[in-house]
Amino acid sequence: MTRRVASVAVPSNIAFIKYWGARDLARAIPSNRSLSMTLRECLTYCTVEHTPEPGPDEIWLAQDGGRLLRPGPEFAARVLAHLDRLRRRTGATGRFRVATRNTFPSAAGLASSASGFAALTLAATRALGLELSPRELSSLARRSGSGSAARSLFGGYVEWPAGRRDAECHAVPVAGHEHWRLCDVIALVERGPKEVSSLDGHRRVRTSPYFRTRLRRLPERLEAVREAIRARDFARLGPVLEEEAIDLHLIAMSSRPPIFYWQPGTLAVLAAVRELRRDGIAAYSTMDAGANVHVICPPESEAAVAARLEAMPEVGAVIRDGVGPGPEVTEDHLL
Ligand code: PMV
Repeated sequence: MTRRVASVAVPSNIAFIKYWGARDLARAIPSNRSLSMTLRECLTYCTVEHTPEPGPDEIWLAQDGGRLLRPGPEFAARVLAHLDRLRRRTGATGRFRVATRNTFPSAAGLASSASGFAALTLAATRALGLELSPRELSSLARRSGSGSAARSLFGGYVEWPAGRRDAECHAVPVAGHEHWRLCDVIALVERGPKEVSSLDGHRRVRTSPYFRTRLRRLPERLEAVREAIRARDFARLGPVLEEEAIDLHLIAMSSRPPIFYWQPGTLAVLAAVRELRRDGIAAYSTMDAGANVHVICPPESEAAVAARLEAMPEVGAVIRDGVGPGPEVTEDHLL
């Protein structure tokens, strides 16, 4: 019987226009279009081995030095559910062994589930001998329980439409990574997992009195981001980025019960970025559903931004990331 192994490296992404709220959460049909930048350094490495004989699936977290650890029950359940979904969608049978490793802290608002589930989708379908198009993979990854995984299957700048039908609901690339080499200097102010998952955040959006207002304002904001990317106009992009991130957190904080992702360190970094701008350094902040801050800037600002953030007592670590080319198939097997 053929045993097949596939390994991939798939990047995380940072949303400029956020997915926050779904029309149909079970099918991951979002309430609004979102747009993100795929990263280069924050990666999930994933190896999947498939054997046609039936048996229980195995999930491992690969450690530096090659050791394999069992994951927590919640993560394992999400991975097992996605493997079942992939079996159903592809008609495959047999068992999977999975090992995965992130180059960055998991579940801390750095979209580890986006890269993780995009990586699992790509590696598992390849281990089944299927070579699916990025659009097909994006559609499959979308259903993983982390909708934003749909965007991590492409490099550069990526839009995910809020299509009503399943077939319309995959991400599409809008510009390649070489089009505009933006940097993302990530300030880690918290390393632990967040208290409320983004899935729970999506569930609560309609309890915020501001959710409908946000949806009304989004098309104009999205168009501004698209135009800024097209024209490589950072002065146009930056303020919209920050406004959009604050809006997401406004919805979270005004949901019932409220969700507070920000920590004191988050506010300190936001203030530092405003100060950098007063000193003439082009940089703007954005945050996903977590406390850590992504400072987006052009390459000429990167060193000054990193130096300023590294000097802050509230910042535990700084990751210098930036726009990247997207997923890669590798021969570095974790199993
Ligand atoms: O993909 P999910 O269900 O984990 O939700 C992602 C939510 C945000 O990261 C906050 C926004 C986004 O578009 O990535």
